[in-house]
Amino acid sequence: MNAMTQPLTHLVNLSEPLNFQQYSAQGGYAGARKALCEHSPEEVLEIVKASGLKGRGGAGFPTGVKWSFVPQFDAGDSRARENKYLVCNADEMEPGTFKDRLLLEGVPHQLIEAMIIAAYTIGANKAYIFLRGEYHLAAKRLQSAINEAYQAGWLGENIQQQGYQLDLYLHTSAGRYICGEETALINALEGKRANPRAKPPFPQVAGLFGKPTIVNNVETLSNLPHILKHGINWFQEISPDSDAGSKIYGACGRVKTPGLWELPMGVTIGQVLNEHAGGLCDGLKLKGLLPGGASTDFLLPEHLDTPMDYDSIAKVGSRLGTAGLIVLDDKNCPVAMVLNLLQFFAQESCGWCTPCRDGTPWAVEILTRIEQGKGTLNDIDELLKLCDFMWIGKTHCALAPGAVEPLRSALKYFNDDFVEHIEKHCCPYHGGH
Ligand code: NAI
Repeated sequence: MNAMTQPLTHLVNLSEPLNFQQYSAQGGYAGARKALCEHSPEEVLEIVKASGLKGRGGAGFPTGVKWSFVPQFDAGDSRARENKYLVCNADEMEPGTFKDRLLLEGVPHQLIEAMIIAAYTIGANKAYIFLRGEYHLAAKRLQSAINEAYQAGWLGENIQQQGYQLDLYLHTSAGRYICGEETALINALEGKRANPRAKPPFPQVAGLFGKPTIVNNVETLSNLPHILKHGINWFQEISPDSDAGSKIYGACGRVKTPGLWELPMGVTIGQVLNEHAGGLCDGLKLKGLLPGGASTDFLLPEHLDTPMDYDSIAKVGSRLGTAGLIVLDDKNCPVAMVLNLLQFFAQESCGWCTPCRDGTPWAVEILTRIEQGKGTLNDIDELLKLCDFMWIGKTHCALAPGAVEPLRSALKYFNDDFVEHIEKHCCPYHGGH
């Protein structure tokens, strides 16, 4: 592992993460020290903006730009004096995605250091880690690292004698996918039912307890200590691509070596699949893949040369999302795969808006019929209509449009498979899954 090319993962130790002393001895907390002792919050903001860091939770929104919406940075805004909050979104529940877990379990002090930098920059004195409920080991390790950070004077009052105060709380989720949506997360943190809120207002202006709040993903935040330590040029030079930095890519499905790899942003899909995941298991061929978790559109073998960055994946009709490949082989039924995903989304719908509450189970009903060989050609039209009914602008949040992405692309790319199920009155892949 190379500290300069794999900054996020080079200190990961899954069997026993570095404690405070060990992490500090490896250069840990030097980024936070630099931020607090050498830079004003405004300077750190400019560094993060100039680095080009984009959100790694799935949407790729520029991190520095997001932070700049916090009223602190508008001198004429009276809200600048209000309480502000930083929240780390560690509610990783996207199917096929397990990259944040690696960082949470393997190097918890890196996240704490990152949160000190982010909270200092936005002027927050309270921060929360909103952790997926099932991540028990991460909870144990994070709490122990938080305790150590308090003892070492990196959390609490007058941090490192710089006159800055930060309290950091670990909050474990009660366990719903929708809690990862930032406004649903905020409601859950306030003790309310985890329904998403309408945006705007965005949390940067009115978030937790109505106050300005920044919600950032674990991987996004984990970049900060390294950007502070090594600088903007270093961060941009990691990647030959238009998007800066490294990215933790993943692969699951019937590949030879499923796993996670920190690579320069913009390696191709083929590199991740064939060089790192070892290609498909013997006897199987690639039929398609979801490039970044379940809520992205399918891509095909012809897309293997596409760089895995935000713009390039968008150009071929999908999204980078979490950059965790879910691989579909030629012996697995695409209808069954999409049915499985839609069952997940239907179960996880909060029920607030009709397109999502009624649309996702309706899609499950139709897909079940088709997969069991009981569908009609009219069902394909019904599914297409549902994709339109559940699309962006017609729903309360991104859950239903996320569910539409694998469904509509499966209907486009694997239409023959849907038709074959209907005409043969059975699943042609029977026995293959
Ligand atoms: P989004 O694009 O609405 O927002 C992304 C971030 O940018 C948010 O923090 C939002 O506040 C900010 N933002 C966007 N537009 C803005 C504006 N005009 N002004 C100010 N701030 C703005 O996306 P969303 O709904 O937050 O996330 C969807 C993504 O989450 C999907 O790409 C999906 O892949 C990913 N996802 C990841 C999961 C995981 O486990 N990591 C689970 C589920 C979804």
